[in-house]
Amino acid sequence: MVEIVETFADVRARHSDVGTVGLVPTLGFLHEGHSSLIRTARSACDIVTVSVFVNPLQFGEGEDFDRYPRDIDRDSHIAAAAGADIVFTPSLSEMFPEPPVTTVTLEALTDALSGRSRPTHFAGVATVVTKLFAGLQPDMAFFGRKDAQQLAVVTRLAADLSFPVEVVGCPIVREFDGLALSSRNIYLNDLERRAALGLSRGLMAVADAFESGTVDAESLEGIAYGAMAAEHLLEPEYAELHDAYSVVNLNTVDRDSFLAVAGRVGETRLIDNIRFDLTDHGIVVDRGVRLPRPVPEPT
Ligand code: PAF
Repeated sequence: MVEIVETFADVRARHSDVGTVGLVPTLGFLHEGHSSLIRTARSACDIVTVSVFVNPLQFGEGEDFDRYPRDIDRDSHIAAAAGADIVFTPSLSEMFPEPPVTTVTLEALTDALSGRSRPTHFAGVATVVTKLFAGLQPDMAFFGRKDAQQLAVVTRLAADLSFPVEVVGCPIVREFDGLALSSRNIYLNDLERRAALGLSRGLMAVADAFESGTVDAESLEGIAYGAMAAEHLLEPEYAELHDAYSVVNLNTVDRDSFLAVAGRVGETRLIDNIRFDLTDHGIVVDRGVRLPRPVPEPT
């Protein structure tokens, strides 16, 4: 049974003296990507807390804060099924008893990529993640690789602020046809969903090209951008290769890095990436994990 807990103090009380504490921070409206984070946390930790908080600080003016899907009963069932012990659902006043005058900004990592079109976004993420780390004191925290820039930001803030937490990045989960799972996919109609596949189609072509020997950023970015541009309903924002930790722009795939794409389908902004991991056997592409094709309902 999952327990729904509303205050930092009550979660902390449950975290004390239980061994390794795992945290999966979310905005809610959980999907299989979140379930896979929770399962990974379950296998590594003695207690697993999933936080569900639609953080107003990370939504810019005119973005989808008001319409962001919220359904705590659904989230609790999904979290429980994936093995969570606690769902932490702080109210706005629990998270921000006063309008905060202390916020967390990073002097690097946040201007590139999504930071260009969402200039206040990463400060909002960094502030709330800092509060979750400080208030819940996890030993390990699990984030998806889908927002590769966010993963770099969170990893760096934990190191800079000396939080004793291990930040774990987990593979992107994709639908059977490649679309990266996102709570925002619910906004897409059938035509928009088809257009959105331009993001992952381009990335898979990038992965193929890399595996055939193409390593220069310009060629790989061109492949990803071209696949997006070919979709009539998809307005490409960027296709760029960046260092996985510093988020500096790269000219070639020669280290831990990611090729990130963003685009807008109608009102919906979507992001995706593929990761290049430096291993003992050279650089290996992480294309994410694909779900099986859904079986049609019997008629
Ligand atoms: O990725 C998300 O769901 C959010 O940005 C996070 C990390 C929960 C912070 O609000």
